[in-house]
Amino acid sequence: MLKYKALRGTQDILPEEMPLWRQLEEMVGRKMKFYNYREIATPTFEHTGLFVHSTGADTEIVEKQMYTFLDKGGRSLTLRPEGTPPVVRTYIEHSLGMKKPLQKLFYIGSMYRQENPQAGRLRQFHQFGAEAIGSIAPALDAEIIALFLDICEDLGLKELSLQLGSIGCPGCRSPYREKLLGFFADKDDLLCDDCKQRHQRNPLRILDCKNPSCRRITEDAPSMLDYLCDDCGPHFQELKAHLDALDIHYQINRRLVRGLDYYTKTIFEVVSPQLGAQDALGGGGRYDGLVEELGAKPTPAVGFAAGIERILLAMEKENCPSPEPCHPKVYVASMGEEAKRLAVRLLQKLRTQMVSADTDYLDRSLKSQMRAANNLKVEYTVIIGQEELNKGKALVRNMRSSQQEEVGIEKLCDYLVEVLNQNQ
Ligand code: HAM
Repeated sequence: MLKYKALRGTQDILPEEMPLWRQLEEMVGRKMKFYNYREIATPTFEHTGLFVHSTGADTEIVEKQMYTFLDKGGRSLTLRPEGTPPVVRTYIEHSLGMKKPLQKLFYIGSMYRQENPQAGRLRQFHQFGAEAIGSIAPALDAEIIALFLDICEDLGLKELSLQLGSIGCPGCRSPYREKLLGFFADKDDLLCDDCKQRHQRNPLRILDCKNPSCRRITEDAPSMLDYLCDDCGPHFQELKAHLDALDIHYQINRRLVRGLDYYTKTIFEVVSPQLGAQDALGGGGRYDGLVEELGAKPTPAVGFAAGIERILLAMEKENCPSPEPCHPKVYVASMGEEAKRLAVRLLQKLRTQMVSADTDYLDRSLKSQMRAANNLKVEYTVIIGQEELNKGKALVRNMRSSQQEEVGIEKLCDYLVEVLNQNQ
């Protein structure tokens, strides 16, 4: 009986899965550089208040999903459920705005939400995200969206849909909220229990409810897009013009709301039709009030985050190419104590010359070692047995052509480096 298993909603990444993760991370890093975003890393846990005051006290994440604990000093700490608040805290704490008027930052890391686990919904998951802090330009919203889609395209994802909306600003959201309250006034009985509670506190969240009855009711609900003010309306128009100029297709989603409180103006989600219920690969938007909310001078910002596990699921469904697994280039097979010592020395030399190499540590027969070399798909196998030792030589076998050559023990390393270089 297994004594311990990974916790529900957490996943191990096995060695054979790792190359795909590394490829994705490298791709993300490369793409971010092309767009001039610089990498940043923040701690995994923060003061709970940071998330309560940014993600929002009324949100599902803060109300139900945070991993919050008291440390030994009695402080309330929380495992980050998302990357945006920590990045903004860092921006403020290190006065990044003084160093550059526009900070373009990106991150890759694990996030934690105590959700009901299901396909594409985990309790520990990973995001990559970008945050551009310091500009109100709609062209920057378009850049953030283009960057996200560019990464998806490079990963081979084709069947994506960009859902676009605007959530306005506190100025225009407040009359809209009143309209919404009026709309739901005589429909309270038809709403699910969660939405009954949301009704007075945060009626916009009803629009996001997945309950079929709530969905039916909200079909005719007024849309924020019809209430945008003279600032938010033109911003949205200009963003659409930029996306058109970039040939980026989008669907205007009149009932798009995001489950985080800090958004203003632009909001978006990229969804994959392949993914069923949890179909959002990522999302984001503008948060022009958050820097001020966290205590610094008003600074506009926009960003996105994508769920890596969901992207990998979508890649699998779309049969996107995965990287070739890495194999060592050389295997050193040996028989006998003296040969083993030589093998270990050769291995060390090869590795310092940047040649990946391995040997047998299980005391296997020469035949089994040759089989192991075959399974490892190495390019060359070095065979050192008593017979070879007596001659001061070793056999080097080219695993592709099956040709073998005798090489002096002292010259082995140089020989292998040379033939491997020639093969490249
Ligand atoms: P979010 O929509 O909460 O936004 O999360 C972004 C993405 O993270 C989701 O679309 C999904 O792919 C992934 N994700 C979220 N929760 C889970 C989960 N439980 N299991 C697996 N994947 C999950 C944010 O986090 C904002 N910080 C995005 C942002 C950045 N807005 C502005 N800047």
